[in-house]
Amino acid sequence: MLQGKEIVLGVCGGIAAYKAAELVRLYVKAGAKVSVVMTAAAQQFITPLTFQTLSGRPVHSELFSLLQEQDIGHISLADRADLLVIAPATANLIGKLSAGIADDLLTTTVMACKAPVLLVPAMNSNMWQNPVCRRNVEQLQQCGYHMLEPATGMLACGWEGQGKMPEPQTIRDESQRLLAPQDLAGETVLVTAGPTREELDPMRFLSNHSSGKMGYAIARAAAQRGARVHLVAGPTALLPPPGVELRPVASALDMHAAVMALAPDCSIIVKAAAVADYRPCCRQKQKIKKGSESTLTLELQRNPDILAELGRLPGERVLVGFAAETEQLLDNARRKLQDKNLDLIVANDLTAEGAGFAVDTNLVRLIYRDGRVEDLPQMSKELLAHRLLDRIRDQRGE
Ligand code: PMT
Repeated sequence: MLQGKEIVLGVCGGIAAYKAAELVRLYVKAGAKVSVVMTAAAQQFITPLTFQTLSGRPVHSELFSLLQEQDIGHISLADRADLLVIAPATANLIGKLSAGIADDLLTTTVMACKAPVLLVPAMNSNMWQNPVCRRNVEQLQQCGYHMLEPATGMLACGWEGQGKMPEPQTIRDESQRLLAPQDLAGETVLVTAGPTREELDPMRFLSNHSSGKMGYAIARAAAQRGARVHLVAGPTALLPPPGVELRPVASALDMHAAVMALAPDCSIIVKAAAVADYRPCCRQKQKIKKGSESTLTLELQRNPDILAELGRLPGERVLVGFAAETEQLLDNARRKLQDKNLDLIVANDLTAEGAGFAVDTNLVRLIYRDGRVEDLPQMSKELLAHRLLDRIRDQRGE
């Protein structure tokens, strides 16, 4: 969604300005072209050279810069933007914008800009709660400005509360959402992600290497494209994607209960989770002690096959499964497609470099109900998520 897009990033004077450097890096990594505009106060916290180096473009700060531009600076910046983001946005900037004040390069650029504007406030929690600030934020939202709520936590000023700038990944995700086509609006999508944990005793469990990256990427992409998204996820270390309703679970039985409760209201279901096929027959109440024997036998029992049960559920929906295989990829995946009554299965070759568990890329083959096979080149899980949603959208259309 960010490939080739022009992003104008405004940086105001707040301690969170240092995080804007990481944001520029993420935008550039995603293929966007970034022009940074700094207020005078921002330059007290971080130097223009940092942004110039990361964006590969000159940094703008002067309203009247005869040397920098032949065009009128703020107008050419405003015209070039596909998206204007201000991170961090201070109480001062929010107040100025809501009052219609345009007295420096950043505020004049915002005033002249017809592209979507995303404000990412960061300030002391008392300033954020101040009724004047609340009124200004509301006023700007009514005028169509997008706002990413500050996070809650320990603030640089020593206070604890709401006011922290959200993480750069969250701001990048929200930027992608604002630029994405809303072609899944009206759809309710259920995605499962991550591993399950089958407990043996209070200390130990059986699990697998799934990091949740693939499922989270699908949930994030679907939300960006306007869908309502439920994400049922086993334990992962990932940040919840913005706009997604996360339901954390642990075991296959927990996942089964959560998925079956949500499924009847969903028009698209994508099962990217790596669900344990078996769980211990009984979970010991106390830690299992080491015995004198050199071997230990565990007795396991089958978990419900959630995807197969979904395939038998009445109603109209697109049902997509994943197959993680180490041999006979196509045969095994085709059998799962048929047995579980799927519309589409994504076949992962776990032996291929840069594919499957924990890595940021994947290399898959899509197998359709009518037998067609589509080989996709290796790509990031983010991009694969969008490709997969393109195919699912086409199937919904049919
Ligand atoms: O999470 P990452 O680190 O990014 O890795 C991604 C991934 C490799 C986990 C993912 O892309 C993937 O392949 N997920 C499916 C892994 C798997 O469990 O495959 P399977 O062949 O065992 O299961 C086939 C399908 O049935 C899957 O959609 C699975 O969610 C589902 N299933 C399996 C068992 C079960 N009891 N219930 C199920 O619903």
